[in-house]
Amino acid sequence: MKNLSFLCLSLCLLLKSAAARRPLPSSSDVSALASFLSAIDPSTIPPWSCLASWNFSASHPCSLPRRSFFTCGLSCSSSRVSSITLDPAGYSGTLSPSISSLSLLSLLDLSDNSFSGPIPPSLSSLPNLRTLVLRSNRFSGPLPASLASLPNLETLDLSYNSLSGPLPDWLGSLALLSRLDLSFNRITGALPRLPRNLLELALRGNSLSGSLSRHAFDGLNRLEVVELGQNSLSGTLEQWFFLLPSLQQVNLANNSLTGVQVPRVDSRNGLVAVDLGFNQIGGYVPGNLTSFPLLSSLSLRHNRLRGGIPAELGQKKTLRRLFLDGNYLTGKPPEGLVSGQAPVSGSLGDNCLQGCPASSRLCAPSQKPVAVCSQAYGGKPK
Ligand SMILES: *[C@@H]1O[C@H](CO)[C@@H](O)[C@H](O)[C@H]1NC(C)=O
Ligand SMILES: *[C@@H]1O[C@H](CO)[C@@H](O)[C@H](O)[C@H]1NC(C)=O
Ligand SMILES: *[C@@H]1O[C@H](CO)[C@@H](O)[C@H](O)[C@H]1NC(C)=O
Repeated sequence: MKNLSFLCLSLCLLLKSAAARRPLPSSSDVSALASFLSAIDPSTIPPWSCLASWNFSASHPCSLPRRSFFTCGLSCSSSRVSSITLDPAGYSGTLSPSISSLSLLSLLDLSDNSFSGPIPPSLSSLPNLRTLVLRSNRFSGPLPASLASLPNLETLDLSYNSLSGPLPDWLGSLALLSRLDLSFNRITGALPRLPRNLLELALRGNSLSGSLSRHAFDGLNRLEVVELGQNSLSGTLEQWFFLLPSLQQVNLANNSLTGVQVPRVDSRNGLVAVDLGFNQIGGYVPGNLTSFPLLSSLSLRHNRLRGGIPAELGQKKTLRRLFLDGNYLTGKPPEGLVSGQAPVSGSLGDNCLQGCPASSRLCAPSQKPVAVCSQAYGGKPK
């Protein structure tokens, strides 16, 4: 008897340690998925969609062997749900707070559906979450502060929703965040200090205001892409901005910038494309832009620039697109831009240039009426 109970004890311990090594399917994952599903309007779940195929009463979504059994939209790591990537079937509903029980979840992608309501604060209990993509839905309300407690978040894409309020100060604390896309929401206010590890910052189509402060971009040594077009940013874009060491593409079009200060840079600068169109930038075309060794696309269209087009732009071998139309530029355009074999596309039209040859594509549309130009330069309209 004694021996038998000893045997059981050792056997039980053995079984217990085996179970610890290969965890059994978690039933809490199944009930979290069931709550997730029940928060979606069943009339928006088409029969051919992923969610229509979810039925875990017969089998756990992570059970093995998975050769004969694959659950659409889910993947597992050992026996726990590790990612949810829904198909864009037009699902409508809310994001159930129960999602937070999927404690091993590292990817949640619900893009191109019609989820609405707030982003649940309970997301903070997903410490393994690396990618959160809720792009193109109808989420509203502020960015929940609980996102601040996702230390492993690398990609946050909440673009094309109806999120509102200012960008919170805790954003800067997301130490691993490399891609942030909040474009086309209703975000207001100034840029706070941004996460240090960012490669891509996209905030197009919001209502951001104020000037770009050095403080917000301090230490962003990996930042390659800045998409801030269609906001209400104002003030002068200063020299420090062009010296961010990894910068490649900048879009600040359709804002209210009034000035730009461009430094002369060395051969390590990697800036390829700059779009500052549709602002209120006054002064001259910054000649220092020609010092950017890889500059290929430049737009300063529809601003208030005056004076001549820097002659060096005509010799800039890397330049492929140049939009300077809709300003008050004067003089003769550089020969290198408007000669027959120039490889540059774009426009120098709607300015006050003289002798822009009609044979060059760049010279369309036509220049401003002489009266408009002479008034702009303080002369009397003729
Ligand atoms: C789910 O699967 C069980 C067992 O195979 C089955 O009895 C049940 O009808 C299924 N439910 C739905 C909604 O298809
Ligand atoms: C800026 O606004 C103009 C006019 O509304 C629009 O045509 C253009 O696509 C916008 N450009 C960018 C880069 O947002
Ligand atoms: C051109 O760059 C130099 C060196 O960075 C700077 O001192 C100068 O002010 C710049 N010129 C303009 C017109 O901004």
